Amino acid sequence: MSTFTYLITGASRSLGLGYTRALLAARPEARVVAAARNPSSAPDLQALAKEDANKDRVYLLQLDVEDKEQVAKAAKELEASGFLQNGLDALIHNAGVALNHQVKPSQLEPEHVLDNLNVNVFGVLNVNKAFLPLLGKGKGKQVFSLSSVCASLEQWGNNVMTPAYSVSKAALNMWMSKLAAELGPKGYTVIMFHPGYVQTDMNQSKGDITTEEAADLAVKNVFLAAKPELNGAFLRYSGEKMPW
Ligand SMILES: NC(=O)c1ccc[n+]([C@@H]2O[C@H](COP(=O)([O-])OP(=O)(O)OC[C@H]3O[C@@H](n4cnc5c(N)ncnc54)[C@H](OP(=O)(O)O)[C@@H]3O)[C@@H](O)[C@H]2O)c1
Repeated sequence: MSTFTYLITGASRSLGLGYTRALLAARPEARVVAAARNPSSAPDLQALAKEDANKDRVYLLQLDVEDKEQVAKAAKELEASGFLQNGLDALIHNAGVALNHQVKPSQLEPEHVLDNLNVNVFGVLNVNKAFLPLLGKGKGKQVFSLSSVCASLEQWGNNVMTPAYSVSKAALNMWMSKLAAELGPKGYTVIMFHPGYVQTDMNQSKGDITTEEAADLAVKNVFLAAKPELNGAFLRYSGEKMPW
């Protein structure tokens, strides 16, 4: 069976760790580059990588998505490591922040939005640009981004909640759509998706579903369901289309 290699950002905890665990369990041929800002202080990720079933299937990569130079170095490190057999098959842009929730729309300062844009948009741009050449060498050619219901003008535009974060995720959706338009004709599948309202650290463990449930659903309905016809789609973790 030929391998299929994912790179997941923000794999230290919460959804990123959940996706790493669920993909390794669901796909025996899968290997994961688990990218984390500080892998040495991510004990759950380290323990997962050391499980017998995951031997030689996980590469821990130090990656702070905001640090453009470090991201470029990390791509070189990965290429030189010998872990990749035929490039990368899929990028999962998961690392994200939700900051300055409490500020009302009328009181937002540029800095409130920038705090969110730095990771949720510029971080994704950094990682995508640096790792696209490796994705070009793989056969999967898939790019996934963790978007949010908060990016949906139709579903979230008419309330006052999370304005700075919502602006960043809406901007991410526009960029992903443009990326899909550029890369789709070259055989790539670019998908953005809402992972559910999940009981992670981001939500102080409040939410409709656990991280494990959300990860299993995303694996089944988004990662394994990806196909070229879905290029440019904005999906829900159930696999249905999200309203823009
Ligand atoms: N949870 C939800 O209900 C929900 C809903 C919609 C969308 N989302 C999106 O899903 C994604 C994951 O959310 P989550 O709930 O798992 O968030 P979380 O519990 O806050 O975890 C965030 C993850 O992102 C990483 N991260 C933050 N800044 C980073 C940086 N500069 N470089 C590298 N990694 C960085 C964190 O790493 P450290 O451990 O180093 O801090 C951590 O692994 C986010 O993009 C979020 O916006 C979540």
